[in-house]
Amino acid sequence: MLNKQISSNLQRRSKNTQEWITRQLSDPYVKAAKYHNFRCRSAFKLIQINEKYKIINPGNIVIDCGAAPGSWSQVAAVECNSNQKRNKMPIGTVIGIDLLNIFPIEGVTFLNQSDFTTSETQNKIINLLNGEKVDVVLSDMAPNASGIKSLDHEKLIEMAYNVLKFAVINSKVNSNCLIKFWAGGRLTEIENDMRRFYSNVKYIKPDASRSDSAEIYLLARFFKGIKKIV
Ligand SMILES: C[S@@+](CC[C@H](N)C(=O)[O-])C[C@H]1O[C@@H](n2cnc3c(N)ncnc32)[C@H](O)[C@@H]1O
Repeated sequence: MLNKQISSNLQRRSKNTQEWITRQLSDPYVKAAKYHNFRCRSAFKLIQINEKYKIINPGNIVIDCGAAPGSWSQVAAVECNSNQKRNKMPIGTVIGIDLLNIFPIEGVTFLNQSDFTTSETQNKIINLLNGEKVDVVLSDMAPNASGIKSLDHEKLIEMAYNVLKFAVINSKVNSNCLIKFWAGGRLTEIENDMRRFYSNVKYIKPDASRSDSAEIYLLARFFKGIKKIV
């Protein structure tokens, strides 16, 4: 009965919408996100990466760039214990930034309607850090896609360089940085630049990332630190 109703509703939609709904209905991560109260299925990408590489630990300071609707921040708040749910564990900090508004999450400070790439936003983050350095910089930021692959790739690379620069200036030695990209020609260039600052850099495509999506993550671990020139 329900299936019949869904399929008759579907027939009234455009082909793209039909495909999207069908995919959502059959996607195990969409179901699991609902079940676990995550705001979207992306949560499982970070969960899978963190299960394997332990990049976020209790007590860590985490910056989540491009945080809306908030599922990575939900995961980060649990893992670094900024939500203070784990007794006797160090309490961390999560700061999430997005162009959009994000509904509050316990243990997370959001900078809403904020463009991470501007010095105004980055100065606000630095003020919130109160002299502390960061353990983890996450960027799942994605610009509005134009549909022209090379342009979209280029735009995301520019944003990623902005994230990398922020991370290099504001991170602790041995910290981690995880950045999303869309596949394209300049990936090797930024990968090599990340290697200058981090001891270990690798490409990651978590199982929860759709196989038909061009997205890929670069995980940079063990920040080497920078020497101050006096
Ligand atoms: C794929 S979503 C992030 C999903 C998020 N990780 C989650 O799990 O809920 C990408 C986000 O990047 C944000 N974004 C794009 N450009 C940005 C910028 N310059 N500054 C801040 N956020 C940006 C978009 O508004 C969008 O919400």
